[in-house]
Amino acid sequence: MTDFDQRAKDWDNDPKKVERARVVADAIRAALPKRPGQTGLEVGCGTGLLSFALQNDFIHITLADTSEGMLEVLAAKIADAGLGHFSPIRLDLARDPLPASRFDAAYSLMTLHHIPDTDAFLRRSGEILNPGGLLFIADLDAEDGTFHTDGTIDVHLGFERGDLQRRAEAAGFHDVSFSTVYVIRKNGREYPIFLLVARKN
Ligand SMILES: C[S@@+](CC[C@H](N)C(=O)[O-])C[C@H]1O[C@@H](n2cnc3c(N)ncnc32)[C@H](O)[C@@H]1O
Repeated sequence: MTDFDQRAKDWDNDPKKVERARVVADAIRAALPKRPGQTGLEVGCGTGLLSFALQNDFIHITLADTSEGMLEVLAAKIADAGLGHFSPIRLDLARDPLPASRFDAAYSLMTLHHIPDTDAFLRRSGEILNPGGLLFIADLDAEDGTFHTDGTIDVHLGFERGDLQRRAEAAGFHDVSFSTVYVIRKNGREYPIFLLVARKN
Protein backbone atom coordinates (compact mmCIF):
# COMPACT_ATOMS: atom_id res chain seq x y z
CA MET A 1 0.00 0.00 0.00
CA THR A 2 1.38 3.41 -0.97
CA ASP A 3 1.28 6.59 1.05
CA PHE A 4 -1.44 7.91 -1.26
CA ASP A 5 -3.53 4.74 -0.74
CA GLN A 6 -3.48 5.42 3.00
CA ARG A 7 -4.32 9.11 2.67
CA ALA A 8 -7.12 8.70 0.12
CA LYS A 9 -10.06 8.37 2.56
CA ASP A 10 -9.21 11.64 4.36
CA TRP A 11 -7.99 13.56 1.31
CA ASP A 12 -11.17 15.59 0.76
CA ASN A 13 -11.44 16.52 4.45
CA ASP A 14 -8.73 19.14 3.97
CA PRO A 15 -10.52 22.35 2.89
CA LYS A 16 -7.25 23.77 1.57
CA LYS A 17 -6.95 20.96 -1.00
CA VAL A 18 -10.56 21.55 -2.07
CA GLU A 19 -9.97 25.29 -2.40
CA ARG A 20 -6.70 24.76 -4.31
CA ALA A 21 -8.45 22.53 -6.84
CA ARG A 22 -11.26 25.06 -7.28
CA VAL A 23 -8.83 27.92 -7.91
CA VAL A 24 -6.78 25.90 -10.39
CA ALA A 25 -9.99 24.77 -12.15
CA ASP A 26 -11.01 28.43 -12.55
CA ALA A 27 -7.66 29.21 -14.18
CA ILE A 28 -7.86 26.21 -16.52
CA ARG A 29 -11.43 27.13 -17.49
CA ALA A 30 -10.33 30.69 -18.29
CA ALA A 31 -7.68 29.35 -20.72
CA LEU A 32 -9.85 26.68 -22.39
CA PRO A 33 -11.29 27.49 -25.80
CA LYS A 34 -15.05 28.04 -25.53
CA ARG A 35 -15.92 25.05 -27.69
CA PRO A 36 -18.54 22.40 -26.95
CA GLY A 37 -17.69 18.70 -27.03
CA GLN A 38 -14.14 18.82 -25.65
CA THR A 39 -12.61 15.84 -23.87
CA GLY A 40 -10.22 15.98 -20.91
CA LEU A 41 -7.64 13.76 -19.24
CA GLU A 42 -6.54 14.36 -15.66
CA VAL A 43 -3.23 12.73 -14.73
CA GLY A 44 -2.74 12.03 -11.03
CA CYS A 45 -6.36 12.82 -10.28
CA GLY A 46 -6.34 11.53 -6.69
CA THR A 47 -9.92 11.72 -5.45
CA GLY A 48 -10.89 13.84 -8.46
CA LEU A 49 -11.13 17.27 -6.80
CA LEU A 50 -9.90 19.13 -9.88
CA SER A 51 -12.02 17.23 -12.40
CA PHE A 52 -15.13 17.55 -10.23
CA ALA A 53 -14.61 21.31 -10.38
CA LEU A 54 -14.30 21.04 -14.19
CA GLN A 55 -17.21 18.63 -14.68
CA ASN A 56 -19.26 21.07 -16.77
CA ASP A 57 -16.34 22.06 -19.01
CA PHE A 58 -15.84 18.75 -20.82
CA ILE A 59 -18.18 16.31 -22.53
CA HIS A 60 -16.05 13.46 -21.16
CA ILE A 61 -13.22 13.28 -18.60
CA THR A 62 -10.82 10.37 -18.11
CA LEU A 63 -9.31 10.43 -14.62
CA ALA A 64 -6.00 8.59 -14.25
CA ASP A 65 -4.05 7.69 -11.14
CA THR A 66 -1.70 4.94 -9.95
CA SER A 67 -3.06 4.69 -6.38
CA GLU A 68 -5.72 2.02 -5.90
CA GLY A 69 -6.85 3.80 -2.70
CA MET A 70 -7.39 7.08 -4.55
CA LEU A 71 -9.19 5.29 -7.39
CA GLU A 72 -11.53 3.52 -4.92
CA VAL A 73 -12.53 6.80 -3.25
CA LEU A 74 -12.92 8.39 -6.68
CA ALA A 75 -15.17 5.59 -7.98
CA ALA A 76 -17.47 5.99 -4.96
CA LYS A 77 -17.66 9.77 -5.48
CA ILE A 78 -18.46 9.35 -9.19
CA ALA A 79 -21.22 6.83 -8.37
CA ASP A 80 -22.67 9.12 -5.65
CA ALA A 81 -22.71 12.10 -8.00
CA GLY A 82 -24.04 10.03 -10.93
CA LEU A 83 -21.40 11.41 -13.30
CA GLY A 84 -21.78 9.24 -16.40
CA HIS A 85 -19.17 11.25 -18.32
CA PHE A 86 -16.34 10.45 -15.86
CA SER A 87 -14.11 7.38 -16.49
CA PRO A 88 -11.47 6.51 -13.89
CA ILE A 89 -8.48 4.44 -15.02
CA ARG A 90 -5.31 3.12 -13.45
CA LEU A 91 -2.57 4.69 -15.57
CA ASP A 92 0.99 5.90 -15.14
CA LEU A 93 1.19 8.24 -18.11
CA ALA A 94 5.00 8.24 -18.08
CA ARG A 95 5.35 4.44 -18.30
CA ASP A 96 2.21 2.48 -19.19
CA PRO A 97 0.89 1.75 -22.67
CA LEU A 98 -1.24 4.71 -23.73
CA PRO A 99 -5.02 4.32 -24.02
CA ALA A 100 -6.42 4.51 -27.55
CA SER A 101 -8.35 7.76 -26.91
CA ARG A 102 -6.91 11.19 -27.69
CA PHE A 103 -7.91 14.30 -25.71
CA ASP A 104 -8.42 18.02 -26.26
CA ALA A 105 -6.87 18.87 -22.89
CA ALA A 106 -4.64 17.08 -20.38
CA TYR A 107 -4.15 18.50 -16.90
CA SER A 108 -2.54 17.69 -13.57
CA LEU A 109 -2.37 19.27 -10.12
CA MET A 110 0.50 18.56 -7.70
CA THR A 111 1.36 15.35 -9.55
CA LEU A 112 4.36 16.12 -11.76
CA HIS A 113 6.78 16.38 -8.83
CA HIS A 114 5.91 12.77 -7.93
CA ILE A 115 6.80 11.46 -11.40
CA PRO A 116 10.49 10.60 -11.78
CA ASP A 117 10.80 11.03 -15.56
CA THR A 118 9.55 14.56 -16.35
CA ASP A 119 10.57 14.32 -20.01
CA ALA A 120 8.67 11.07 -20.55
CA PHE A 121 5.60 12.63 -18.92
CA LEU A 122 5.79 15.64 -21.26
CA ARG A 123 6.49 13.60 -24.37
CA ARG A 124 3.62 11.21 -23.71
CA SER A 125 1.28 14.07 -22.78
CA GLY A 126 1.93 15.35 -26.30
CA GLU A 127 1.24 11.92 -27.79
CA ILE A 128 -2.12 11.66 -26.05
CA LEU A 129 -3.40 15.10 -27.10
CA ASN A 130 -5.29 15.91 -30.28
CA PRO A 131 -3.58 18.41 -32.61
CA GLY A 132 -4.01 21.86 -31.05
CA GLY A 133 -4.70 20.25 -27.67
CA LEU A 134 -3.71 22.01 -24.45
CA LEU A 135 -1.56 20.81 -21.58
CA PHE A 136 -2.06 22.32 -18.11
CA ILE A 137 0.36 21.52 -15.31
CA ALA A 138 -0.13 23.04 -11.86
CA ASP A 139 2.77 22.25 -9.54
CA LEU A 140 5.33 23.57 -7.09
CA ASP A 141 7.91 26.14 -7.99
CA ALA A 142 11.41 25.05 -6.98
CA GLU A 143 11.49 24.63 -3.19
CA ASP A 144 14.15 23.86 -0.60
CA GLY A 145 12.90 20.44 0.50
CA THR A 146 10.70 21.74 3.33
CA PHE A 147 7.38 21.23 1.53
CA HIS A 148 6.78 17.57 2.36
CA THR A 149 6.88 17.26 6.13
CA ASP A 150 4.57 14.21 6.30
CA GLY A 151 7.05 11.57 5.20
CA THR A 152 5.87 11.57 1.57
CA ILE A 153 8.71 10.57 -0.69
CA ASP A 154 8.70 13.34 -3.25
CA VAL A 155 10.76 12.96 -6.35
CA HIS A 156 11.37 16.56 -7.43
CA LEU A 157 11.72 19.59 -5.16
CA GLY A 158 9.40 21.58 -7.40
CA PHE A 159 10.45 22.93 -10.79
CA GLU A 160 12.38 25.87 -12.13
CA ARG A 161 10.05 27.47 -14.71
CA GLY A 162 12.67 28.13 -17.41
CA ASP A 163 13.91 24.55 -17.23
CA LEU A 164 10.38 23.14 -17.43
CA GLN A 165 9.59 25.40 -20.40
CA ARG A 166 12.66 24.11 -22.27
CA ARG A 167 11.62 20.53 -21.54
CA ALA A 168 8.05 21.17 -22.72
CA GLU A 169 9.35 22.73 -25.95
CA ALA A 170 11.72 19.80 -26.48
CA ALA A 171 8.69 17.52 -26.14
CA GLY A 172 7.02 19.40 -29.00
CA PHE A 173 4.86 21.95 -27.15
CA HIS A 174 4.45 25.57 -28.24
CA ASP A 175 3.07 28.78 -26.73
CA VAL A 176 4.32 27.78 -23.28
CA SER A 177 3.26 30.24 -20.58
CA PHE A 178 3.37 30.35 -16.79
CA SER A 179 1.35 32.12 -14.13
CA THR A 180 1.28 31.84 -10.36
CA VAL A 181 -2.09 30.25 -9.80
CA TYR A 182 -2.08 29.61 -6.06
CA VAL A 183 0.12 29.88 -2.97
CA ILE A 184 0.19 27.07 -0.40
CA ARG A 185 0.84 28.44 3.09
CA LYS A 186 2.06 25.99 5.71
CA ASN A 187 4.52 25.88 8.57
CA GLY A 188 4.87 29.66 8.34
CA ARG A 189 6.12 29.47 4.76
CA GLU A 190 4.73 30.15 1.31
CA TYR A 191 5.00 27.72 -1.61
CA PRO A 192 3.85 29.23 -4.94
CA ILE A 193 2.09 26.95 -7.40
CA PHE A 194 2.58 27.70 -11.09
CA LEU A 195 0.19 26.89 -13.90
CA LEU A 196 1.96 25.95 -17.11
CA VAL A 197 -0.20 26.16 -20.25
CA ALA A 198 1.19 24.76 -23.50
CA ARG A 199 -0.18 23.83 -26.90
CA LYS A 200 0.52 20.80 -29.05
CA ASN A 201 0.73 21.59 -32.77
C1 LIG B 1 -0.32 15.17 -4.29
S1 LIG B 1 -1.49 14.05 -4.96
C2 LIG B 1 -2.57 15.18 -5.85
C3 LIG B 1 -3.93 14.60 -6.11
C4 LIG B 1 -4.90 15.56 -6.81
N1 LIG B 1 -4.37 15.99 -8.08
C5 LIG B 1 -5.20 16.74 -5.93
O1 LIG B 1 -4.64 17.81 -6.18
O2 LIG B 1 -6.00 16.61 -4.99
C6 LIG B 1 -0.58 13.27 -6.29
C7 LIG B 1 -1.36 12.18 -6.99
O3 LIG B 1 -0.59 11.72 -8.10
C8 LIG B 1 -0.69 10.31 -8.16
N2 LIG B 1 0.49 9.83 -8.89
C9 LIG B 1 1.76 9.75 -8.45
N3 LIG B 1 2.56 9.27 -9.42
C10 LIG B 1 1.75 9.05 -10.50
C11 LIG B 1 1.98 8.59 -11.81
N4 LIG B 1 3.19 8.22 -12.22
N5 LIG B 1 0.94 8.49 -12.66
C12 LIG B 1 -0.32 8.86 -12.26
N6 LIG B 1 -0.58 9.31 -11.02
C13 LIG B 1 0.43 9.41 -10.15
C14 LIG B 1 -0.76 9.87 -6.71
O4 LIG B 1 -1.29 8.58 -6.58
C15 LIG B 1 -1.65 10.96 -6.13
O5 LIG B 1 -3.01 10.62 -6.22
